[in-house]
Amino acid sequence: MRGGRRVDLVHAKWTQLKSKHHSHIPVAPVGYAGAFTEDVLVVAIQQNERQMPLEQQPAILVRGLVKRYDTVEAVKGIDLTVRSGEIFGFLGPNGAGKSTTISVLCTLLRPTEGSAEVAGYDVDRHPALVRQRIGLIFQDPSLDDQLTARENLWFHAMAYGVPHEERGPRINAALKMVDLDDRAGSPVKTFSGGMKRRLEIARGILHSPEVLFLDEPTIGLDPQTRARVWDHLRGIHARSPITIFMTTHYMEEAEWCDRIAIIDHGRIVAEGTPADLKSQVGGDVVVVSTDDDDRAIAEVWESFQIEAAKGTGEIRIEVPDGAEFVPRLLREMTVPVRTVTVRRPSLDDVFLKLTGRAIRDEEADPKAMMRRFARTWRGGR
Ligand SMILES: Nc1ncnc2c1ncn2[C@@H]1O[C@H](COP(=O)(O)OP(=O)(O)OP(=O)(O)O)[C@@H](O)[C@H]1O
Ligand SMILES: [Mg+2]
Repeated sequence: MRGGRRVDLVHAKWTQLKSKHHSHIPVAPVGYAGAFTEDVLVVAIQQNERQMPLEQQPAILVRGLVKRYDTVEAVKGIDLTVRSGEIFGFLGPNGAGKSTTISVLCTLLRPTEGSAEVAGYDVDRHPALVRQRIGLIFQDPSLDDQLTARENLWFHAMAYGVPHEERGPRINAALKMVDLDDRAGSPVKTFSGGMKRRLEIARGILHSPEVLFLDEPTIGLDPQTRARVWDHLRGIHARSPITIFMTTHYMEEAEWCDRIAIIDHGRIVAEGTPADLKSQVGGDVVVVSTDDDDRAIAEVWESFQIEAAKGTGEIRIEVPDGAEFVPRLLREMTVPVRTVTVRRPSLDDVFLKLTGRAIRDEEADPKAMMRRFARTWRGGR
């Protein structure tokens, strides 16, 4: 009964199912209209059993996901629920398991244990159905430099089976969305890094995916170009009911996400809205740069019994009231203090508190990223 064969019995069951759950009928997967196989039916029944309308079903549902590469356990049993229509940020230091997780969700790697569903389909049992419903943007550029922007998109539209008559209008709309309509006929080799990234985003949304995955979409770009890429992503999000799942090293970008999860050493250490997570760091953060940070940390402990965290060339101290604390701090410290700043907690502070390490922009080294992606691709499914 499996394997794409048209089955009359399935049709009969489908009709039965339709009359039973008429208000929660799942849409037929792309390419399956009129050919409901048992696989498709099973998925449809699973969706109906959750007894919620499709738009309320999670876009991504991960349970106990483990991914091992030989001896390395890159992902150690994570659970994630991403709601439809959310912008979800996945943060973590180098080697935390972000790309591995994205690769499993996009069906490029198979899970070792546990399960993951994307757009209602199990990634391991229905990879083809998942692929039809997702867009994927890797850091490693995968455009054809010799082709023009329009030709690159045309090729993608063909690969994804976008109907012939829809290709032109969709390509025009996608190019316009990322402000590249005036460069449609230029070869990609003449594009800047930011333009290429925008073209990749246009390509990622061309087949109207339900979920768009982006692994470090703005890595290595200057702040202005990063802001522009984000403008486009937010514009796309505002205009369509798309779910966006992205990894980033840039904390200010994580602030723009509806919810974020922080992964460290293959485990989720925190999940929530940026505001929720920041509220875990109570009060103010006092940032102090000194001549000897280790000694300063010891002195803060001796004088106030507060554990200061070591940042990059600075120490950070969480206190309920920064303005009240700073004069006392300066009175007690014998280590020469160079600067003191008091500020509200940021996601950086959350990260530091939870993992004991700072996530730094320098981690976002494009060359290192490319090497990692190349390794992942070579690993295959
Ligand atoms: N193909 C592979 N074979 C063996 N180990 C791998 C492979 N790919 C990744 N790893 C290891 O799995 C762990 C997680 O790697 P992953 O690339 O998922 O991290 P990441 O969070 O994306 O890091 P980064 O921020 O540096 O991109 C690391 O220890 C890495 O060395
Ligand atoms: Mg990565």
